[in-house]
Amino acid sequence: MLDTKNIHITRNSESKIAQLNPDNIEFGKLYSDHQFVVYFDGKEWKDASVEPYQPLTISAASPAIHYGISIFEGLKAYKHDSGKIAVFRPDKNIERLNLSAERMCMPKVPEELYYDSLDVLLDLDRDWVPAKEGTSLYIRPFLFSDDDYIGIRPSQSFRYMVITCPVGAYYSQPVKVKIEDHYVRAVEGGSGYCKTGCNYGPSIYPAQLAKQKGFDQLLWTDGKEHKYIEESGTMNVMFVIDGKLITPKLGDTILNGITRDSVLTLARDWGMDVHERKVEVAEIVDAIRSGTLQEAFGVGTAATIAHIEAIGYKDEMLQLPKVEEREVAPKFLKTLDDIKAGRTEDKFGWLRMI
Ligand code: COI
Repeated sequence: MLDTKNIHITRNSESKIAQLNPDNIEFGKLYSDHQFVVYFDGKEWKDASVEPYQPLTISAASPAIHYGISIFEGLKAYKHDSGKIAVFRPDKNIERLNLSAERMCMPKVPEELYYDSLDVLLDLDRDWVPAKEGTSLYIRPFLFSDDDYIGIRPSQSFRYMVITCPVGAYYSQPVKVKIEDHYVRAVEGGSGYCKTGCNYGPSIYPAQLAKQKGFDQLLWTDGKEHKYIEESGTMNVMFVIDGKLITPKLGDTILNGITRDSVLTLARDWGMDVHERKVEVAEIVDAIRSGTLQEAFGVGTAATIAHIEAIGYKDEMLQLPKVEEREVAPKFLKTLDDIKAGRTEDKFGWLRMI
């Protein structure tokens, strides 16, 4: 096993931090000065380093490029008034990364190595964590095949890396989502519960078709009958109907979202009536039409809590209650923001301080 304290650091002599405008941060446009990298040679992890953010050298035969042998995570860090950095629920990300690794025949990333990768990188790039309300540092750990072999087989060598970028809102406005009744994101027995590039690449085309019709994202339905709601493009989805909080139950077609889990934990703590179960498209459409649906929103690390203002169903655009009059989603957003920023007690132990 690698001595994880032995991480070689090469500082970036040409910092880009002057390009960071805290008042106007676009998601994923500007990356922090450094990246973490470590190699798995089939037996052990070695040559851990932090180096200036730069393009990679990779074999043109790498299965990461040809077969999508690549997995990733997304988490965020927040600047506290004390100057310390709080990383939100990083334990859940390593758990999920290693679940994805198993499904993709990849080695597990040792927890100690993962935490060291976050600690060393965030400490070095701490000035990149923006302090303004609604901003954070998005952290993207990822693992990919580093083989120089084009055949189909479990890969032997891998690279685990972490990059970071300051971000503002992923969706700056409430979103319109279309219930997808033809294309499929995941099927039972597939890899829908993993965070692998393979789940995201093919989703872009149907999302693009929906964009041309004025939607921001899709609301994916089950791959067999298109009868049940699963998740939205970049987030899990929740509904408030007659005061009940309802969300699709997890399974192997739905990503086990960390914001989803956090919202459900808060809701249960507040004594809300929470239902994790199969959610029929027909039920949602009926609830909108009868006026019992009070709110719908997406939950995700990048998206945080995103109001859904309208849902497209077949050729209809169903308008949801006014966003300004909603109470539940804003309460989740405020509570999570307060915990992340250190304004409210971290009673669930969700923050890792650096
Ligand atoms: C996240 O919320 O972290 C995601 O990975 C969503 C998207 C940017 C792919």
